[in-house]
Amino acid sequence: ILKAGDALRRFPLRNVRGVPLMEPIAQNWDSISSFNPDPSDILISTYPKAGTTWTQEIVDLLLHKGDAEACKRAPTVVRIPFLEIVTPPPIPSGLELLSQMKPPRVIKTHLPIQLVPEGFWKNKCKVIYIARNAKDTLVSYFYFDQMNLTQPEPGPWDGYIHKFMKGELAWGSWYDHVKGYWAEKEKSNILYLFFEDMKENPRREVERIMQYLDLSVSDDILERIVDLTSFEVMKNNPMANYTFIPKIVFDPSISPFMRKGEVGDWVHHFTPEQTKLFDEDYARQMRSTNIPFRTNI
Ligand code: A3P
Repeated sequence: ILKAGDALRRFPLRNVRGVPLMEPIAQNWDSISSFNPDPSDILISTYPKAGTTWTQEIVDLLLHKGDAEACKRAPTVVRIPFLEIVTPPPIPSGLELLSQMKPPRVIKTHLPIQLVPEGFWKNKCKVIYIARNAKDTLVSYFYFDQMNLTQPEPGPWDGYIHKFMKGELAWGSWYDHVKGYWAEKEKSNILYLFFEDMKENPRREVERIMQYLDLSVSDDILERIVDLTSFEVMKNNPMANYTFIPKIVFDPSISPFMRKGEVGDWVHHFTPEQTKLFDEDYARQMRSTNIPFRTNI
C-alpha cells in the first residue's frame, strides 16, 4: 500500500461502501475490516474533531488509576492505536501497532458504525462514542484540514461548509455518523457522550466513563483525572498534544492541534447567512432523530 520512502501527501478520498475515506485506508480496507478484536478491547469512536484525543486521555488515565507518568509512556497514537490509519513506513499503521500489543487494548476509530469491523459487535466490545455539535465540529475540522498535510485540501471556508453538509469530507457525513451510533446505542451497549457535556461537567462525564468500563477510582483520583485532562494541561502535555508529529505532517504554524477546546467557537466563523443556510439544511438532515445537541452551554 504505502512503501518506505513514500512521501506523505494530501491523500485523495475513495469511497468505501459509499463513505469517502483517505486513499490508503480504502486500499487497505480488507485488512481493516477483518480486524478481530479481543472481547476485552475498548473502542473509542468519533467523527473527526469531536473530542477523541480528550476521551483517549481520560480512558488511559482511568485504566492507570490516575498515574500521570504512566500515561506519558508514549504519545496518544501509540498508547491508543488508530485502527484504520495507514502511514508510510517507518511510521507504523494502526493495524501494525495493534498486532504488537496484547489485549486489553484501547482502540480509536473514526469509522461510521456500518464500517466498524464486525468483530467488535460479535465480541461485545465496549464502545465509547463522543459526538460534538455540527458547527463546532465543522470549524475544528476546517482548521485541522489545513494543518494536517495528509488530509484533503479544505479549500475556502464557504465551500468547506458545503462539503460538510454534503458529507464530502474524510470519513463522510457527520449527520449519518452521529445518527448511526445513536440508533444502535441501546442494542449494542454503546456509551454515547457529548463534547458539550464534558465541557460543562467533566467530572460527571469521567465518572460515567468509569462506570461504563466497570472501573472504580477514589474521588481524589477522579478529581486528578479531571485536572490532567483539562484543555490547558493537555495542551502542555507533549504526549497528548500531538506536537511529536513531524511538522511535515501536522504543521502547527498553520493551527495547533490543541486549538481552542471550546463550545460555541462557531459564532466567530459563521456569517448570519451561513448560519441560516446551515440550520435549514440541518433541520432537514436531522429530522428523523432527536439527538440533544447543544451549540452553546
Ligand atoms: P478545537 O479545534 O475546537 O479546539 P479530536 O481529538 O477528536 O481530533 O478533537 C480535537 C478537538 O478537541 C479540538 O477542538 C481540540 O482543541 C479539542 N480538545 C482536545 N483536548 C481537549 C480537552 N482536554 N478539553 C477540551 N477540548 C479539547
